[in-house]
Amino acid sequence: MHVALTGATGFLGLRLLRRLLDTHRSVTVLVHAGSGDALHRITRYFALTGVPEAALAELPGRLRVVETELERPGLGLSRHAFQELADGLGAIWHSAGSINLAGDLAELRRTNVEGTRHVLELAAAGRERPVVHHVSTAFVAGSRREGVAYEDELDGAYGFENAYERSKYEAEVLIHAWSREHRRPVVVLRPSILVTDLPPHPELPSHPLQVVERILRDARRTAEPGCRARVRLVGRPDGRLNLLQVDHAAGIMVRLADRTPSGGVDTYHVVHDRDVPVPTIVTLLERLVELSVELVAEEPDDPSALEALVDCYPDLTTYLTHRRRFDDTRVRTLFGSSVASDRVDLDHLWSGLVPRGLVAAGPSPTSALPSAPCA
Ligand SMILES: NC(=O)c1ccc[n+]([C@@H]2O[C@H](COP(=O)([O-])OP(=O)(O)OC[C@H]3O[C@@H](n4cnc5c(N)ncnc54)[C@H](OP(=O)(O)O)[C@@H]3O)[C@@H](O)[C@H]2O)c1
Repeated sequence: MHVALTGATGFLGLRLLRRLLDTHRSVTVLVHAGSGDALHRITRYFALTGVPEAALAELPGRLRVVETELERPGLGLSRHAFQELADGLGAIWHSAGSINLAGDLAELRRTNVEGTRHVLELAAAGRERPVVHHVSTAFVAGSRREGVAYEDELDGAYGFENAYERSKYEAEVLIHAWSREHRRPVVVLRPSILVTDLPPHPELPSHPLQVVERILRDARRTAEPGCRARVRLVGRPDGRLNLLQVDHAAGIMVRLADRTPSGGVDTYHVVHDRDVPVPTIVTLLERLVELSVELVAEEPDDPSALEALVDCYPDLTTYLTHRRRFDDTRVRTLFGSSVASDRVDLDHLWSGLVPRGLVAAGPSPTSALPSAPCA
């Protein structure tokens, strides 16, 4: 069965591609038109993660690269090219999307909702009725910050923390309607926040924690240098977030694809069995950005210049108030304890945020804060 993958140059997509190539002789990668040399980016990821030269040399022959534009009907392909592509596929993995948490709803809808619509149209056109494996997010659960979110739930009643969550929710709603209308199976994979301990590298895609770190670092530059700026963030000391190693997530997703789909929409939470306490994430950010974070229940009414800057991204900091758990009974029933992954701790997160060359020179995540607080 021949498979196509969207988003193969992304943080998750690269790992999915690697797993798919373990079991498929070749993969069609539907890459973002005009976004740089995808084959080169993919090859660099494989090289930087230790794939041997001989396997690298085989890559061009194992990947069929098709430039696509998710937002455009027919994925921006000619009618003939679209039909030819559709007819050659037995499965479509849809991992492309915008994960811009501070993004504008209209823009996110174009990529995440309309993009999904066009991928479903590709599946509908295919002679072999390809199965769609859609990468969603556990955060379609929206603004419900407490309790348990179940795999079968899809409910917009709680509202959303940001436009990204809403767009991913709307894409899932679209999938349910499409599956019913076409009587076609779709596998929906809902990972939590994906992390890595692979140090950042200019040729590798960023991941969400790196983006948060960058935002805080930019804001921090405005504060008095050489001292540890204090910032009050709305959050809960008893809060917790689900973070999962991206390679592990890709492995579970590809294993799920071996199951025979039910015929409708099969949704799976791809999550860690242990949440990370919010204070661990706060400690990490304090060490990385030289901040002293105080978690407060309400937004301060006398924000400092730095707090006002950080507050420009309320859609990010709101996650510090979460205590919700994601139920993954369906995944665990299928795979048992083999889905357990290593603990995501401070050291793991630190490794994925500090460039390799700086690890030896920089403070360890557990060392004392290096500088005095601001007066
Ligand atoms: N990262 C997480 O923690 C996380 C957690 C839960 C769910 N997810 C979901 O997982 C999926 C992959 O996320 P990721 O972390 O791999 O994101 P990413 O690193 O930002 O990668 C996004 C991928 O989508 C492609 N893409 C973006 N816009 C496109 C367009 N208009 N047309 C064609 N391709 C386009 C990008 O290509 P270019 O790079 O060439 O633009 C890239 O390959 C997303 O659906 C996301 O919602 C991610």
